[in-house]
Amino acid sequence: MIEQSKERFRGRDFITLQDFTQQEIEEMAAAAIGLKGQLAGGIPHPILQGRTLGLIFTKSSTRTRVSFEVGIYQLGGYGLFLSDRDIQIGRGEVVQDTARVLSRMVDGIMIRTSSHQDVLDLAHHSTIPVINGLTDYLHPTQVLADLMTIREHKGSWRGLKLAYIGDGNNVAHSLLNGATKMGMHITIASPDGYKPAPEIVAQAQANAAASGGSAVIVTEPAEAVAGADIVYTDVWASMGQETEAVKRQKVFAGYQVNAALMGRAHPNALVMHCLPAHRGEEITEDVIEGPQSVVFDQAENRLHAHKAIMALLIH
Ligand code: CP
Ligand code: NVA
Repeated sequence: MIEQSKERFRGRDFITLQDFTQQEIEEMAAAAIGLKGQLAGGIPHPILQGRTLGLIFTKSSTRTRVSFEVGIYQLGGYGLFLSDRDIQIGRGEVVQDTARVLSRMVDGIMIRTSSHQDVLDLAHHSTIPVINGLTDYLHPTQVLADLMTIREHKGSWRGLKLAYIGDGNNVAHSLLNGATKMGMHITIASPDGYKPAPEIVAQAQANAAASGGSAVIVTEPAEAVAGADIVYTDVWASMGQETEAVKRQKVFAGYQVNAALMGRAHPNALVMHCLPAHRGEEITEDVIEGPQSVVFDQAENRLHAHKAIMALLIH
């Protein structure tokens, strides 16, 4: 499976799901599900024997860091954790030089940082694949794992309705990209001033026109979740917005995913959250721990999805 797909993926960057076709996203999700099965069956899969991945982090991470490090190891390769507290990028070495140096030493770079432009610049100046492990603008590796999770639980994507409640942030943006590529109907409910970026909405609506899905932005959570197959939320204050946390608690007070809101969704609706979660804020304890919640499947699937990305892109 991976060998057949590799020709079309090899050497490419993974910066946004927007850069991939519906078929390619489907192939990545299928590769991830295949690798998950191999791991469960104890079947070795040293696809990246001897390869190395540099992991640049200028922001915190539990899931993304652990899944990429463990993932490259399971593929037979080696991951180097490069915190900005340790590497020269944290002392002002420019992205262009970091890109050219790492390109001569490692086989791929994963980067988590605030500035999306820095990731684009890193990719532009690198001769090896660059994987976006989250910027303030997008979180595409998360959404590939989410699409995989939806497929595992619902069987397919086409025609499903996903309601995202909360901040129109990086996760919301990548969900708009990914869901509409796959023919899903996505509705985002966010307060005014916190809605997703207009250019992302426009891209999503263009995707939807081609895939048979839709992308709608509303203000009322109840309107978004009506009949939804998936209810998704994320923190009200993302990394880097800590000083706005108190203000945001007021702004988003009506945007909590709780039992009352879930009562408006389809009875079998999945509850999703990229984690980390703030119980009692964007989601209640009973909902995140309830039978509809698949949040830990999502977290686990980061491992399998990231292995698929690495196996397909790295030479
Ligand atoms: N969901 C996610 O990206 O988690 P981490 O911040 O722990 O990597
Ligand atoms: N929107 C959150 C996602 C964390 C995985 C953030 O950027 O902090």
